[in-house]
Amino acid sequence: MKVVVAGANGLTGRIVLRLLKEAGHQPVAMIRDFAQRDALEALGAECRIGDLEKPVGYAVRECRGAVFAAGSGSKTGPEKTIDVDQNGAMAFIETCVRMNARRFVMLSSIAVDKPERGPESLHHYFRAKAIADRHLQASGLNYTIVRPGFLTNEPGTGTIATGDDLGPIAKETHSVTREDVARVLVDCFAQDNTVEKTFEMIAGETPIADALKAL
Ligand SMILES: NC(=O)c1ccc[n+]([C@@H]2O[C@H](COP(=O)([O-])OP(=O)(O)OC[C@H]3O[C@@H](n4cnc5c(N)ncnc54)[C@H](OP(=O)(O)O)[C@@H]3O)[C@@H](O)[C@H]2O)c1
Repeated sequence: MKVVVAGANGLTGRIVLRLLKEAGHQPVAMIRDFAQRDALEALGAECRIGDLEKPVGYAVRECRGAVFAAGSGSKTGPEKTIDVDQNGAMAFIETCVRMNARRFVMLSSIAVDKPERGPESLHHYFRAKAIADRHLQASGLNYTIVRPGFLTNEPGTGTIATGDDLGPIAKETHSVTREDVARVLVDCFAQDNTVEKTFEMIAGETPIADALKAL
């Protein structure tokens, strides 16, 4: 499947591109800067320019799947959280609806439904992500929403824990590697039972394939 990845140049997005390619898909990297192209083409991706604060139809054309792995990050102010993580995500979803990219996998975050489970500094971010998630749930797309805990750059373990609500969150207890998150995002495309599922995930003991089958 041709799958467009928003946030393709990100730490998680790059792993997603590699794993999509390994799984036999055709990854399309949506990037804002063509200087990123050589590195992402080396991962097997076709690169297309797209900025979530502008129309993104060019990046989505002919794609039948989409992964949203973008985010404004912690270095920008709260207005960028609204512009990118909320409104940018919603516009990307709408473009996928319009252009028939029907299989959509969202990288969301743990605790978005109940911000009080996390530190106050993240409440604004959680609320923005929750609005985007609800938009996706109502979009009619074949969606999966993956809500990981704090992301780390350790090598993947291949095992996770999942649940609807994994309790009050802390870095010590609610982290997960970006590689395991990327593996889950990509494996969702092969597991039809993950359609219309929304779940949290952190490091754990269950092999990813078993955890997804049990959703
Ligand atoms: N960090 C955590 O602990 C954590 C926990 C749970 C969930 N998450 C979610 O996981 C996501 C991915 O995390 P990560 O660490 O892999 O992210 P990252 O490395 O910060 O990458 C984010 C990507 O989003 C892209 N982006 C930002 N604004 C954009 C725009 N207007 N249009 C198009 N692309 C845009 C960036 O593009 P450029 O390369 O051009 O800057 C970058 O490639 C986060 O954004 C967050 O929502 C994070």
